Amino acid sequence: MSTQPPRVLFVDHAAVMGGAEWSLLSLARRWRSERAVTLFEDGPFRQHLNEAEVPVDILPASAAVLGATRGGGAVADLLTVPGILALATRLARQARRFDVLYANSQKALVIGAVAALLARRPLVWHLRDIITADHFSPARRRLAVGLANRRAAYVICNSEATAEAFMEAGGDPNKVRVVYNGISPAPFDAVAEDEVAQVRMALGVGETPVIGVFSRLAQWKGQHVLLEALAYLSEAHALLVGDALFAEDRVYADALRAQAASLGVTERVHFLGFRDDVPVLMKACDVVVHTSVAPEPFGRVLVEGALAGRPVVATDAGGAPEVINDGETGHLVPPGDAQALADTLRTLLTDPIATPRIAEAGRQRALDHFSEEAMVRAVEATLLDER
Ligand code: UDP
Ligand code: GLC
Repeated sequence: MSTQPPRVLFVDHAAVMGGAEWSLLSLARRWRSERAVTLFEDGPFRQHLNEAEVPVDILPASAAVLGATRGGGAVADLLTVPGILALATRLARQARRFDVLYANSQKALVIGAVAALLARRPLVWHLRDIITADHFSPARRRLAVGLANRRAAYVICNSEATAEAFMEAGGDPNKVRVVYNGISPAPFDAVAEDEVAQVRMALGVGETPVIGVFSRLAQWKGQHVLLEALAYLSEAHALLVGDALFAEDRVYADALRAQAASLGVTERVHFLGFRDDVPVLMKACDVVVHTSVAPEPFGRVLVEGALAGRPVVATDAGGAPEVINDGETGHLVPPGDAQALADTLRTLLTDPIATPRIAEAGRQRALDHFSEEAMVRAVEATLLDER
């Protein structure tokens, strides 16, 4: 079928690279029809879009709109109303040149719902969060679900777990479509062995096992559990790749350093900050772990670890069990259980037969089930229904 997909204006409030932004970058880059991205602030995401030759526009949001947090309530929301209306009016002007307005975040949904109404365009929401009390205040949940039910043509969810939480919060099941993230293996396949050796040399780890976690530093991402697990493992090193992307997470980032010191593992912990060379860093690890202590909506890092050919250990919640078949294509451990994580890591690091087999099965599963091509085509097919 060569039906041309609709012209889409994607909207995202964020300008820093979280999983939602990496995923939208793939989608916009591979979209087979006219598309553009509008962001509410300037930052690295714009540069990535520029490099991918995706047209991008910045409509700066007021401080009140950008500052609204997931935990915020109805009173705080009232303060943002003038900012929302101003922004939505400008977005509506842009949206008239496209067939569909596509919100990639909750803030984009709020502004997008008003803009879509003004521009008389259908609205699609790509829901990438598990909307439960773990992550969102009741006011935020009511607002998002209410807007989606009333205004969105589709709610594209990044996992069944995300879809279930949306429906449990009152979301309309008829609007839900589950589309998994897809990730290209190319940047992982392009890494040369000597680049990996160089990274390990620079870290000064010799032959010692290295365990990597690749997430922004945030309490719910649970890096503290890896540090605790490290104390149970006599010699392994940990790579913490990622930074506090949002102001509210800086306290946690500092607490991690203090925790490493008090556990006496500082020499074995490498804080690398935010990096653009995740594939080579993953390949420099013996195991890639995911430690989220709240349910992870999807977890791109699980697929990436597998594409890097490394065994992946993830916490058993949210979308992770949809990505990993426990004991076959990776391992799942209970969230927040440092002892269980340490035990699983010890087994993986000492089993020369089962470990490469699991890594290879994980890689195959990533290639078969989480391809970029499949993701883009599934979203295109959903939007074609809309016309
Ligand atoms: N990532 C990155 N640099 C870092 C740490 C992480 O580019 O220093 C990337 C990582 O490779 C992944 C994304 O950020 O593609 C995180 O996405 P994920 O879905 O795992 O979690 P999110 O941050 O969206 O909750
Ligand atoms: C969100 C989620 C993450 C998911 C990403 C891409 O940022 O936290 O789990 O992988 O979106 O959909």
